[in-house]
Amino acid sequence: MKIAVLGNGTVGNGVLDIIEQQMKPACKDIEIAYLLIREGKPKTKPIMCDDINTILQDTSVDLVVEVMGGIEPAHTYILKALRMKKHVVSANKAVIAKYMKEFQECADENNVCFLYEASCGGGIPWLHNLFQAKRIDDIHEISGIFNGTTNYILDHMTKEQKQFDVILRRAQELGYAEKDPSADIDGIDIQNKLKISASIAFDSDIVQDFPTFGIRTIHKNDIAYFTSLHKCVKLMAVAKKQDDRYGAAVEPLLYDADAMESSISENFNLACLNGTTIGDCKFYGQGAGKLPTANAVVQDIIDILYQLPKPEISLSKNLRHDTSLVKGVYIVRTNNKECRQILEDFYDREERFQGYSYIWTKCISAYQMHQFIKQIMDKDAGAFMARIHEVTK
Ligand code: HSE
Repeated sequence: MKIAVLGNGTVGNGVLDIIEQQMKPACKDIEIAYLLIREGKPKTKPIMCDDINTILQDTSVDLVVEVMGGIEPAHTYILKALRMKKHVVSANKAVIAKYMKEFQECADENNVCFLYEASCGGGIPWLHNLFQAKRIDDIHEISGIFNGTTNYILDHMTKEQKQFDVILRRAQELGYAEKDPSADIDGIDIQNKLKISASIAFDSDIVQDFPTFGIRTIHKNDIAYFTSLHKCVKLMAVAKKQDDRYGAAVEPLLYDADAMESSISENFNLACLNGTTIGDCKFYGQGAGKLPTANAVVQDIIDILYQLPKPEISLSKNLRHDTSLVKGVYIVRTNNKECRQILEDFYDREERFQGYSYIWTKCISAYQMHQFIKQIMDKDAGAFMARIHEVTK
């Protein structure tokens, strides 16, 4: 099978490495005919090409791998490739989260496959297993650590007691972070992955934004305070479904030190589902990085090469966004006394730790708390918050 790879970045080069090494028979049947690079960049390999139309018009190319990232031109190129009856495999969570339905419909109309395992959870076969679970079960909840960069940062801030910026730079050097790491540290990357995963889990086209708060403002002292409470902070994605409603949020969560989530280190991810008969099921692996992510891309290519049955996807349910489904007790760090008034109705108590003030709230919905934290950050831009994870029976 002849394929074209659109994008010469970390993941694109990982795909080249895996296929060119031909370690297993399946990889021997895949030939990379083109590698799309940016116009004007030097062509250092014979497969390099800077004209998308050359690739699209080459009828010997059966499959296009889109690993450019970003919305445009990725959106246009994916649609064009599908309309030219080429299968598309993508790792680009931003464009899929926004246009999943359009891509799926276009693939169905043209009788080709659109697969995107690498878009969520890097090297973990997460979407594959989600589709598998759905063959028998209704999925009530999905959650997880869906960003390698932020997990690496939180893990190393804890282990090395270093500041955020130092560890972020290292995560970038290791190739975990997005080009603009804001998407990682502000939770946008996780929001995109949760939109994709929840759409599959709940059979609904979930495109609406939901409460999202990242780790940009966390500092060493917060981690020391949480450790003193025997808690570990993780940036989590959570989506729940009840009847015809769903709720979702991305935010720092505090787990007991001995919880499974607390043990996830480095760039590893954890993707969890809860289904009717299977109950809780958790998948662990490297969520970012060149070869693990490229591995998921090549798995999709092999599924198409071997004509394995396409995953059954339906985005037809019209679920209502219920802002009360995700809730809990939050700990908010702010030294600005005015901020306490914002939380007045939900104020429970305050603790001092190494000169910082931590306000504990009563139980409050994520939706409402995220509105409060915006108001708090207008007065204290460096404030931080985390929700205490509660084990539900
Ligand atoms: N920047 C992403 C992460 C890459 O750190 O998880 C994988 O999606």
